[in-house]
Amino acid sequence: MFDLSEDHRAIRDMARDFARSEIMPGAGERDKSHIFPKEIFDQLAELGLMGVFVPEEYGGSGLDIFSYVLALEEICYADAGVGVTMSVQNSLAGWPVLAFGTHEQKLKYLAPMATGEKIGCYALTEPEAGSDAGAQRTKATRDGDDYVLDGTKMWITNGPNADICVTYGNMDVEARHRGVCAFIVEADMDGYSVGKIEEKMGIHCSSTSELVFEGLRVPSDNLLGEERGGFKVAMATLDGGRIGIAAQALGIAQRAYDLAVQYAKERKTFGKPIANHQAIQWKIADMRTRIEAARLLTHKAAWLKDQGHLGSLECSMAKLYASECANFCAYEAVQIFGGYGYSQEYEVERLYRDARITTLYEGTSEIQRLVIAKNALR
Ligand code: CAA
Repeated sequence: MFDLSEDHRAIRDMARDFARSEIMPGAGERDKSHIFPKEIFDQLAELGLMGVFVPEEYGGSGLDIFSYVLALEEICYADAGVGVTMSVQNSLAGWPVLAFGTHEQKLKYLAPMATGEKIGCYALTEPEAGSDAGAQRTKATRDGDDYVLDGTKMWITNGPNADICVTYGNMDVEARHRGVCAFIVEADMDGYSVGKIEEKMGIHCSSTSELVFEGLRVPSDNLLGEERGGFKVAMATLDGGRIGIAAQALGIAQRAYDLAVQYAKERKTFGKPIANHQAIQWKIADMRTRIEAARLLTHKAAWLKDQGHLGSLECSMAKLYASECANFCAYEAVQIFGGYGYSQEYEVERLYRDARITTLYEGTSEIQRLVIAKNALR
């Protein structure tokens, strides 16, 4: 637990080398252009990072969740916008097909996502079903051998670029989560369209949009898991997804910390480097301690999932703590940089914006606390 195996060190180092040489140099430019990094996506796929824990028979790298977390932190250290695209592909689109899909579904949908040939997304959120995910209003109606979906999903990461979408429809809105079904849909099916593209505060190079389903006819072969069993698919998927967001947050926090330490040693005030002032030392100490704690929580959650432990508690604790740590570290890094930190010329300004999403998506901090308390009080 406290040291990495040779295999884990190798995957981390491979991701680190690629992230620092190929991703980091263009991060500032991508933040300005908002352009989805398809070329980097393809390179990450070639490295096996779009199906890290998918078995080789389905086109993946056949590694474990821990490997995925180590690699994702490194990618997010360089550019959290690229990182979220990778995390959605692995955790939110790939994992539910791996865990709940039939062999045929895995061959048809998981394999092309794991190899990076197709881009995946996960569409759960709706205008009136965000934190209250059980309030799904997208209608799923059985019609012969098909289901017909009607509704709108929003805030869908990878939405504008996705070829394959894991989504949810409700057969009985009154029954709330008990009517929810999970489906695998294809972007080129009739009745599927990309709606409003979102302009966001940060993670600019990741793409986000609404998805609109109008009479979208989905063959029953594309039902994922059991009919009306979709809410469990959604929640179990988010458990794993939250470990990914914890890793993303960790990458942002570590980068903010490294930049702050470097700057504190160089910048002088009152005749000495600001690192020699106790006010700055306390910030560095708090950042370092919180990052260490966040990493331990995140690694433990990944390790538990690799052992087959499917509970939510550790996933939510890791996500809550690491995301708040990313915001704390980015805030303190800007503070240490002073006025320069507020300038777009300095990377900490972007980190401050990128960190903000981590306490929001895949469940707000308030939702994580709710999940943790529910488990603690059980
Ligand atoms: N795994 C499996 N089943 C689970 C589960 C889990 N982790 N959590 C709950 N369930 C089951 C329960 O056992 C229960 O089953 P029964 O009907 O058999 O009793 C059922 O689901 C309902 O559980 P709850 O009563 O706890 O459900 P709830 O309505 O109170 O909601 C919630 C729980 C935790 C608040 C949930 O709605 C939630 O997680 N909300 C946040 C949604 C979220 O994170 N959205 C993120 C969108 S994706 C995204 O952000 C992606 C991106 O852009 C990168």
